[in-house]
Amino acid sequence: MSAYLELCRQAKRHHNLRHLLTFAAIDRATVMPPKGGEARAEAMAELEGMLHRESRDPAMADLLRAAEAEPLDAAERANLREIQRGHRLALAVPDSLVESRVRATARCEAGWQLQRPANDWQGFLENFREVVRLARSEARHLADASGLAPYDAMLDLYEPGVRSAELDLLFGDLRGWLPGLVQKVRDRQSSERVLAPAGPFTAEAQRALNRAVMERLGFDFEAGRLDTAVHPFCGGVQDDIRVTTRYREADFLHSLYATIHETGHARYEQGLPREWPGQPIALPRSMGIHESQSLAFELQLGLRKSFVEFLAPLIASHFGPQDAFEPENLHRHLTRVAPDKIRVDADELCYPAHVMLRYTIERALIEGEIEPEDIPALWDEQMRDLLGVDTRGDYRDGCLQDTHWAEGVFGYFPCYTLGAIYAAQWFACIQREAPELDSRIVSGDFSAVVGWLDRAIWSQGSRWETRELVTRASGEPINPAHFRAHLEARYLG
Ligand code: CO
Repeated sequence: MSAYLELCRQAKRHHNLRHLLTFAAIDRATVMPPKGGEARAEAMAELEGMLHRESRDPAMADLLRAAEAEPLDAAERANLREIQRGHRLALAVPDSLVESRVRATARCEAGWQLQRPANDWQGFLENFREVVRLARSEARHLADASGLAPYDAMLDLYEPGVRSAELDLLFGDLRGWLPGLVQKVRDRQSSERVLAPAGPFTAEAQRALNRAVMERLGFDFEAGRLDTAVHPFCGGVQDDIRVTTRYREADFLHSLYATIHETGHARYEQGLPREWPGQPIALPRSMGIHESQSLAFELQLGLRKSFVEFLAPLIASHFGPQDAFEPENLHRHLTRVAPDKIRVDADELCYPAHVMLRYTIERALIEGEIEPEDIPALWDEQMRDLLGVDTRGDYRDGCLQDTHWAEGVFGYFPCYTLGAIYAAQWFACIQREAPELDSRIVSGDFSAVVGWLDRAIWSQGSRWETRELVTRASGEPINPAHFRAHLEARYLG
């Protein structure tokens, strides 16, 4: 057997084992009883550890070298590039560090569950110092192996190829115009009269509406499910995708838009190429590209006036008629801009500020320029400067609000805003190709949107590195001008 085929066989085997890990995690997040937690964590760590050890097997280095010299076509070369990347990353971080990190982050995350509601920053800090110490060590190992700066090496785990120098340019651009735009939009909206939908809306009725919208968006219920979880997510494998949402009886729009968001993630997974089952070339490109699919659904499509016009009668048919469901009013309600403390509840205009402040802090933290105890003061300062929001003394809805850092995940936050910028870029293309887009959307015909995303992104998998994928899809590298034009047109147009 050729070295390349042997590598493919191993990749397929790991893919199959990861399939089971994924469903162990989905079960934990949806239906597992609390007492199951410890044993589940142990079982998952065992399998995770085995996969890590096998990925660093010295025999793999020989196979990779041999495969390099074999006659491969372009797609096989791309697949080999992704297999190499996995091996390089696994090789960079020692087993002992992976194990210590699993333990430290599990302790920190479990403590956070209680410390956040208690506003207990000092208590959190005791566990968090160790998480930061290990994350810095991981970043240093990855940096040594790649030649990148430590934070860039962490960023590269989630958004391969993107560097903080590029983020500084993108976010510097946003910082220049976004706060002024937020102010202008707020002034303009202050005189608007908006009716909020009046609940309660039962979870059953919400669930039926969510399913109906998912169906219209082309989600394949023969290859996926809609379930309930505390934090909405999308996970699974191509032909078994689990979308989750949560229900608040007072506010069905929260659940509906979380569902539309996760459906965007799900359609990306369901639309990945089928020619290379279990191979890395058939996997999603990156976290930023993944988020660009969810935000293309939730924000670009979901908040268009034409989509809200399509949605309004469907909403009324599930909950009965209300004046608030009149499309014009519903759209004003959905596009209301209000700076606040919580990232996951932030509107489209304020969201990037939450990301930029986290980026500034986590980068300085990983690079060793600040210590964990410096976080709250920086948080307060940035929230004031970027959004005019006072967070002093409020750790609960300030720097303790997310789990990412407690879980040792540094370098992920920028992907949310990269996704928003990419999504605006995709829609600029879609709009150009389909000038009659909105009249089609009103009637529930999303084929222009879905067709473009499928052709340009989903069907491409990991065939191209991100920069090339973006340029092939849209004719240019990432360009925040589309994001700005989109926001100005929607909120000031
Ligand atoms: Co998402």
